[in-house]
Amino acid sequence: MSGDDPHYGDEMIAFLESMWGEGYLSPGGPKEVSRVITGIDLTGCHVLDIGSGSGAITVSLVRDHGAARAVGIDVEPGVCAAARRRVEAAGLGNEISIQQVEPGPFPFDDGSFDVVFSKDAVIHIPDKAFLSREAFRVLRPGGWFAVSDWLISHDGEPSPEMQRYIELEDLGFAMGSPRSYEEALAAAGFVDIALVNRNPWYAEVAKDELALLEGPRRGDLEARHGVELIQSMIETWQAMIVVLDSGEHCPHHLRARLPH
Ligand SMILES: C[S@@+](CC[C@H](N)C(=O)[O-])C[C@H]1O[C@@H](n2cnc3c(N)ncnc32)[C@H](O)[C@@H]1O
Repeated sequence: MSGDDPHYGDEMIAFLESMWGEGYLSPGGPKEVSRVITGIDLTGCHVLDIGSGSGAITVSLVRDHGAARAVGIDVEPGVCAAARRRVEAAGLGNEISIQQVEPGPFPFDDGSFDVVFSKDAVIHIPDKAFLSREAFRVLRPGGWFAVSDWLISHDGEPSPEMQRYIELEDLGFAMGSPRSYEEALAAAGFVDIALVNRNPWYAEVAKDELALLEGPRRGDLEARHGVELIQSMIETWQAMIVVLDSGEHCPHHLRARLPH
């Protein structure tokens, strides 16, 4: 993704934050973040946040969950600038760094982190085997991979409905299947691999979001983001709900651990 043609430009950041909260470019807010890391004590940990977006989650990993240090990486300049502002405003400039990176190997030494976290961002990394190997490499022995991502329920070609939805999103999605993730994580050397399907949750939440978009918030959202953008988002949400209801679009929490 070049800085000239961002998927998450200022307009998209502003719209997604209207939907999901200041600094959040994915659904569920603080509660969903807590679910992704349930049972993992972040106190004193060094955490890598892959695809940190506009930064509210990276901040909360330190401020609310006790991580000693967090590094947020992202490929887009606009979100990195927004995240840095958020980090500074939170007074966490010493604890959190936001790094703009190129897609590819993570720019960190082996064993640098206790936890590799990500919220709905590794959908943008097509090679799940490479992602898994890189996560494994930068974790210390016993470290955790605790990730939320948007998955497709099967391997092979997406259905025409899924294809249409992915085209409407136009965000460069590269969805993996649960099977492909399990295989990739196991092949990288991870153990205790566990997947939780969040489709039932998001299928309901997305309908509430669409009701707000089409109903009481429409005028306000149109005034803030433009009639055209809101119309295209309504079409995207309608298409998304079809594939959430069929189960083909299945957000998951992915959990795995490095052996000691
Ligand atoms: C849906 S947003 C989620 C942001 C944040 N995690 C949140 O939940 O608010 C996905 C983010 O992944 C970033 N991204 C895309 N490709 C990436 C890559 N190869 N490495 C790291 N981040 C990437 C995007 O720029 C975007 O900020």
